[in-house]
Amino acid sequence: MDLFDDLPMEPEAVALAPGALLLRAFALEEAAALWQVTEAVLAQVALRHMQTPGGHTMSVATASCGALGWVSDARGYRYAAQDPQSGQPWPAMPERLLDLARRAAAAAGFENFQPQACLINQYVPGAKLSLHQDRDEQDLSSPIVSLSLGLPAVFLFGGPERSQRPQRHRLVHGDVVVWGGPTRLAFHGVAPLQEGEHALLGRKRINLTFRRVNPVP
Ligand code: SIN
Ligand code: FE2
Repeated sequence: MDLFDDLPMEPEAVALAPGALLLRAFALEEAAALWQVTEAVLAQVALRHMQTPGGHTMSVATASCGALGWVSDARGYRYAAQDPQSGQPWPAMPERLLDLARRAAAAAGFENFQPQACLINQYVPGAKLSLHQDRDEQDLSSPIVSLSLGLPAVFLFGGPERSQRPQRHRLVHGDVVVWGGPTRLAFHGVAPLQEGEHALLGRKRINLTFRRVNPVP
């Protein structure tokens, strides 16, 4: 048995690069409450496997909440005020999620983060996200804030070029990653999810990314 198995996870900040921080266990204490509000959102909006402009079906299932939601189809990637599947606005971003995103951004040095979109990604074992940049937002002065819930995953964090070999960091339930400023356009992705069973979420990982789309007026 690992001697350290019984130790509680202590919050810890790990610098990945200038402007990029892994805030280990930042949301751990409130993770159950964050999952509860996320489940309430997912009762109002369907997770779906979107098509990429290249014609592939994503292995990750996605939905959004907030004023804007991220969508992908044959026409490209974009943000939209309505869910194209239902024709309805996306569910509102719960205050509890917004508050977490703002505190995490501030802890990483990005004050007054005002996200408009929260993308909810669901990974089941085998699902992955290839290296990509988050560049569908016009506002690049705001960071990306990412909250991980459920099964652990290996987060890939590279540089400004796809060819740069990414760092690999294990993200677990309650971890938060913030990247912005000089690393706002860093390539990143998620390695294929390993089999497992999480005590609260079961056989899946949920990642929420908070994004500012339009420049703050
Ligand atoms: C993303 O890049 O949108 C999600 C990253 C993650 O799932 O950790
Ligand atoms: Fe991304």
